[in-house]
Amino acid sequence: MTDLLEPRAIGRPLERIEGRDKVRGLAPYAYEHPVSDPLYLHPVQATIARGRVVAIDTGGVAFPGVVAILTHENAPRLASDENRELWVLQSDEVHYRGQFVAAVIAETPEIAREAAGQVRVEYEQQAHDAELRPDRPDLVRPDKVNPSFDTDTQEGDVEAALATAAVRIDQTYTTPMEHNNPMEPHATIALWADDRLVLWDSTQSAHGVRKTMAAVCGLDPAQVRVISPHVGGGFGSKGTAHPHNALACLAALAVPGQPVKFALSRQQMFVVAGYRTPTVQRIRLGADADGRLTALAHDVVEQTSKVKEFAEQTAVASRIMYAAPNRRTSHRLAVLDVPVPSWMRAPGETPGMFAAEVALDELAVACGLDPIELRIRNDPESDPESGRPWSGRNLVGCLKEGARRFGWDVRDPKPGLRRLGDWLVGTGVASSTYPCYVFPGSKATIQYGTDQRYVVRIGAADIGTGAWTALTQIAADALGCPVEAVRLEIGDSDLPMATVAGGSSGISSWGSAIVAAATAFRERHGTDPGPGAREDAEITQPPASRTHALHSFGAQFAEVHVHADTGEIRVPRMRGVFSAGRIINPRTARSQFIGGMTMGLSMALHEESVMDARFGHVINHDLAGYHIAVNADVKDIDAVWLDEHDPHSNPMGSRGIGEIGIVGAAAAIANAVWHATGIRVRDLPITPDKVLS
Ligand code: MOS
Repeated sequence: MTDLLEPRAIGRPLERIEGRDKVRGLAPYAYEHPVSDPLYLHPVQATIARGRVVAIDTGGVAFPGVVAILTHENAPRLASDENRELWVLQSDEVHYRGQFVAAVIAETPEIAREAAGQVRVEYEQQAHDAELRPDRPDLVRPDKVNPSFDTDTQEGDVEAALATAAVRIDQTYTTPMEHNNPMEPHATIALWADDRLVLWDSTQSAHGVRKTMAAVCGLDPAQVRVISPHVGGGFGSKGTAHPHNALACLAALAVPGQPVKFALSRQQMFVVAGYRTPTVQRIRLGADADGRLTALAHDVVEQTSKVKEFAEQTAVASRIMYAAPNRRTSHRLAVLDVPVPSWMRAPGETPGMFAAEVALDELAVACGLDPIELRIRNDPESDPESGRPWSGRNLVGCLKEGARRFGWDVRDPKPGLRRLGDWLVGTGVASSTYPCYVFPGSKATIQYGTDQRYVVRIGAADIGTGAWTALTQIAADALGCPVEAVRLEIGDSDLPMATVAGGSSGISSWGSAIVAAATAFRERHGTDPGPGAREDAEITQPPASRTHALHSFGAQFAEVHVHADTGEIRVPRMRGVFSAGRIINPRTARSQFIGGMTMGLSMALHEESVMDARFGHVINHDLAGYHIAVNADVKDIDAVWLDEHDPHSNPMGSRGIGEIGIVGAAAAIANAVWHATGIRVRDLPITPDKVLS
């Protein structure tokens, strides 16, 4: 990578540039876009987990205000079934409970919902299978795990090294199915008019939804436009199109010229918007008497859906975390009659690092070593997987800085010793990691306007992260102008191509395109351009180094209080220290880090989608039954970061921060629960019953 930007705006804690619009109601989310004379859609969902629709009786649905009822028999035909999840209302097959089998389009949302409730569907039910068990004989080995990692890896002789290790850990850890619950539900307004399909959509990728839906509907991508300037959270669940997008498109095609509004209910989000797969993870560690790892094995069983494969990369972080000469990782899938799992904040790293970092804590106890010292002893010089030098691994720096800030040195290593009244007190630590992804394909255009401002255009997404602000800061530094002289346009597929707001890659990828366009602009037009001067640039190759291993790291510290009688668990204090390259905007970055840590706390103590395998149904499918950490659960959480820039990642020197905050947080809490109680919980979430047993 060449010269770093001269950071003037970068590094400043600018307030969100769209913040005033948001509080004044001028920053519309998908469902709120003003459209004239909208219609409303409500789906009918399958009440069986597998089988066929044999009859749909819409005879009783003669409400005034009902405009159309779509079923597999009369819905417009889609063009591509390459993505079977999006093959909506095209056949009589039912692949999972809750699948869309019909939809009502009506003049009001109330009429649509009432009418949908009165559609009678008759099924031919087939035996289904919705239970993840690790001992199934029919587990399958996927070709790759998300997005394109090797499924299994093997280095050296793990079994031999384990057999001769002075200290061994062999434990199984489990994490439950979890669902993303962004504040803004998934929503689409679809309008088919003048041979053009316009979607106002809540998405992490306007260009991605355009491309996908164009293919599904058999349209030229130029005929599809996706508009999404403001998105109220996604965490990965809005990273790809889901069945509601396909259903909204079908509805629009069925009523040309009229916009159709469709927002998923909270309960529908638990079916069609993806989820984090449950995992069963066996971890085996072997170490010498000094705690130096000789063997590390991480074998994962998880689930996918028969209708479409998604294989999460649960064990991938174990390939790079610690120096162990003998290593193996593997992933196996139970293929079930369930909805399709998908991305949820740091897919792979989050459940994988829960298991691995609790196992490491167990090894520290077995070796009689401080868990920070154990991690320092096993810190690899270079990436154990690729052999490449790190672009900036500073896990040890994070652990040491965190220990200092947290007050780790006063900790007695023995569990169950500290008490505050009825509460047992413990502290725990865990490592964090996330790769630095920079995706090729983004393009930015810069045009100088008559208002003496630079209009910077790129079809990027701000899902609440602060991308509006951070990209403006990057553009200002790249153009050598004040931030006030930049007018950013994002969130529209009519803007230049931008890759997904996913994999914590957004700022790295889009920022690289903006810097390239700004550099070209200044070369051609100098610093005193005339109105209308314009330049663009496209990132066709990943700008990140191929010579270095690019990963961020962090250290998570937690204090927990466990009630001696009731088992209630509280987390009064969490601290995170991160090594993530240059931080573009400390204000929005801190929100990302502590948001991730909060989601990790939520994962540690609360979140669990309970699948009733008899029906293939998540029974706690709403915010009453699925608890997410709220203000009362979250006490003193703070995050800091090491002052760095990464010369190998991208022109900004940043590495992406959206996901790393959740990684390791649940392990730090689980390790603190052990320290408080002496009870090792290896099964998330850590509910009171598990510490009372
Ligand atoms: Mo994130 S789970 O890659 O949107």
